[in-house]
Amino acid sequence: MALDMNKLHDFLMKFVGDLGATGTAGMVVIGDKLGLYKALAAGPTTSADLAKKTSTDERYVREWLASQAAAGYITYDANSNKFSLNDEQAFALTSDACPANIAGAFELALGSLAAVPRITDAFRTGAGMGWHEHDERVFHGCEKFFRAGYAANLVSNWIPALDGVKQKLEAGARVADAGCGHGASTILMAQAYPKSKFFGFDYHDGSIAAARESAKRAGVADRVTFEVSRGKEMPGGDYDFIAMFDCLHDMGDPAGAAGRVRKALKPDGTWMIVEPFANDELKDNLNPVGRVYYSFSTLLCTPCSRSQEVGLCLGAQAGEKRIRDVVTSAGFSHFRRATETPFNLIYEARP
Ligand SMILES: C[S@@+](CC[C@H](N)C(=O)[O-])C[C@H]1O[C@@H](n2cnc3c(N)ncnc32)[C@H](O)[C@@H]1O
Repeated sequence: MALDMNKLHDFLMKFVGDLGATGTAGMVVIGDKLGLYKALAAGPTTSADLAKKTSTDERYVREWLASQAAAGYITYDANSNKFSLNDEQAFALTSDACPANIAGAFELALGSLAAVPRITDAFRTGAGMGWHEHDERVFHGCEKFFRAGYAANLVSNWIPALDGVKQKLEAGARVADAGCGHGASTILMAQAYPKSKFFGFDYHDGSIAAARESAKRAGVADRVTFEVSRGKEMPGGDYDFIAMFDCLHDMGDPAGAAGRVRKALKPDGTWMIVEPFANDELKDNLNPVGRVYYSFSTLLCTPCSRSQEVGLCLGAQAGEKRIRDVVTSAGFSHFRRATETPFNLIYEARP
């Protein structure tokens, strides 16, 4: 074997970066939970002051600060021996306005990784693993991470990108949110469009229970109901608008779900499908966003679909062509990409 030492060095440095990033997942979840970032955002501080402010142990905090400074998540000034957050770090790590909730994403990652032994086994047996079988951190982290993206985009960009939907929602419409998880998207829409009625569905009873509590806390329980249901068995009908956020590809039978949506929509209704950003060809997804999605797809999305009937396993990087095929197979005559972000594709389908 004639090793190119420069190439080997580059590869090993890549590995060191990834190993450090794996540890960063835990560091960020700790920092968020203990309020360390929020306290740091108030101004430069020593480890002793930060520990005092957050009622934590100084020795642990000192080690955490060093790890976070080495990762570039916080800033260290050697002259004053103080740690701080610059404006960008503070925005990304502490502001609700940031479109990506970093702590939520890492919580989701840590929860997903707990499934590694079972998924390793599934590689041998081909068995599935339902969404509901994952660690609690998957549900909580997913809600926290996704809600930030929806808060930044859903009402301001995605709904206005659909033909005539914003006007209907403002006037008062019947809306279903299928595969709603903890209901972050349902509640955001209910807050923005108080004249409309919202029905959230998910097959996971634990998520539906959490969604009901969130709706009460948000003060929208009068116009939102949550029920346990699979996508292809969604109850009710005459919906003006049906939304699916990051869940069509998780379903075992997405074409069956599409067929149910087709029947449950009014003839002039709209189906919005939010899916992870992906190109049609694998070679075009071999980038940092594709890397994130393919990994989570291996641990969460593909096994979830495999665990259900049909088990189509679209995966989180299905791309527009495969989603179009699923939607049009159910008799939808109109399908288009309405808008996109670096993380999401937003499709509009009509009967
Ligand atoms: C990645 S999560 C997204 C949750 C939520 N839509 C959001 O954006 O926060 C995928 C969701 O799809 C749900 N799901 C999977 N298969 C389903 C099915 N066949 N019918 C309904 N929900 C399903 C899971 O329980 C999970 O809540």
